[in-house]
Amino acid sequence: MMESVTGGSISPYKLLFRSLTLIPISHYLLLAFLVSLVYVYNLLEVHIIQDFFSGGSVSLTFHSSSDLYREVVSKCQLLHGRYLATPWLSSPHLQTILLNVIVKIPSFSYKREIFRTSDDGTIALDWLMTSDVSETSFQVNGTNAVADIPLVIVVPGLTSDSNSPYIKKIAYDMAKHGWNVVVSNHRGLGGVPLTSECFYTAGRSVDLGEVVNHIHRKQPETSLYAVGTSLGANILVKYLGEDGVNVPLAGAVSISNPWDLLIGDRFFTRAIMQRFYNRILGSSLKGAAKLHQETYARLSDWEGIEKSRTIRDFNDHSARIAGNFESIDAFHRWASSARLVHNVSVPLLCLNAIDDPVCTDEAIPWDECRKNKNVVLATTQHGGHIAFFEGMSGKSLWWIRVAEEYLSNLHASPTMSKQQMQKFKESDSLSRDNKKLV
Ligand SMILES: *[C@@H]1O[C@H](CO)[C@@H](O)[C@H](O)[C@H]1NC(C)=O
Ligand SMILES: *[C@@H]1O[C@H](CO)[C@@H](O)[C@H](O)[C@H]1NC(C)=O
Repeated sequence: MMESVTGGSISPYKLLFRSLTLIPISHYLLLAFLVSLVYVYNLLEVHIIQDFFSGGSVSLTFHSSSDLYREVVSKCQLLHGRYLATPWLSSPHLQTILLNVIVKIPSFSYKREIFRTSDDGTIALDWLMTSDVSETSFQVNGTNAVADIPLVIVVPGLTSDSNSPYIKKIAYDMAKHGWNVVVSNHRGLGGVPLTSECFYTAGRSVDLGEVVNHIHRKQPETSLYAVGTSLGANILVKYLGEDGVNVPLAGAVSISNPWDLLIGDRFFTRAIMQRFYNRILGSSLKGAAKLHQETYARLSDWEGIEKSRTIRDFNDHSARIAGNFESIDAFHRWASSARLVHNVSVPLLCLNAIDDPVCTDEAIPWDECRKNKNVVLATTQHGGHIAFFEGMSGKSLWWIRVAEEYLSNLHASPTMSKQQMQKFKESDSLSRDNKKLV
């Protein structure tokens, strides 16, 4: 035998094969199982082992002489603590995919107001008053008391509306904490028809501007704040930058903002999971457009929309055509809120998770946030996209607590929020006086 091996009459590969067949099949199965476990662990970017060693600290980026940080954010305990993910959800993908599955949907109903925009479009404003949900039901007596309750305007993400589980959760939680809430649905979403020759797109911030001005006109004494999530955060920050000092809000929060849609679009084509999100979001956009097929067909390319599989395809056949952009990337550049951060003039807190699998951290405008004294940017290593599940049961969303704590501290701050509103009342009365003169 030895002879024949050294003599080379039996191939060493045959010998190797023969010995491999002697290993029991169960060992192979075990190996295959371990390999696929490592594959899935990496694919889902699970960080449960990492969590044992890393601190989960929150990183804050702001101007070195920021009053907003000194007066408000420095008092926010959550932003100076740690964010630790729910252990069985310690993956940005699990957090993001299961967001609307795991969130416990609070039961309440909104009161709907139909708002007409200047072009005769229809926007559904869904109101939830703190008196509707608080057990202590402190009856507000007198008009001044009403004005003392601050109002937060919530702007949902891409194809979300007031009934999306995470939006119902923030509405309910804020109302429980003593806030009045109104969800500003996007055009054509929330079950209303399109009533003008216009549909909503990723950069359509003028609608939000009209809604904010409408509410401010109706309740000039109320302190107004806004929270935008995902694409809603992009629209909110874009509006804040475009309207600059003319924004009648006392403060705002941006959660999981995509910031730069050009970078975001490239990110969506990169890895297998991102391509998966791209398809999912692309088809949900198509589903939302289908409700208003006639208008889309009149203003853009319906055949192209039906064939599109990604967000980029969809926008290329709808928003680009309707908005007369020479290319889809020109639309992406125009629609991005990152280019307007420098012009934001209300106290703005921005929160992004570095591992957000939908809105890449590559798009975060670090320098612009650091240069603008009105902006504080908070980032965490983990949390996924508008998820930030925390606690063993996974019932709590950390970002909602962060937004509530920040807004409450801002509202309580004698200088920060009042300053902004005061400026407003003065300029309002100024313009009223001017009108009188005319
Ligand atoms: C407001 O307060 C006054 C006196 O305390 C009371 O008579 C009145 O009924 C109250 N109004 C409401 C709407 O609660
Ligand atoms: C910045 O804000 C001002 C109002 O404060 C506005 O007139 C201007 O157009 C804004 N800049 C940009 C680039 O939108």
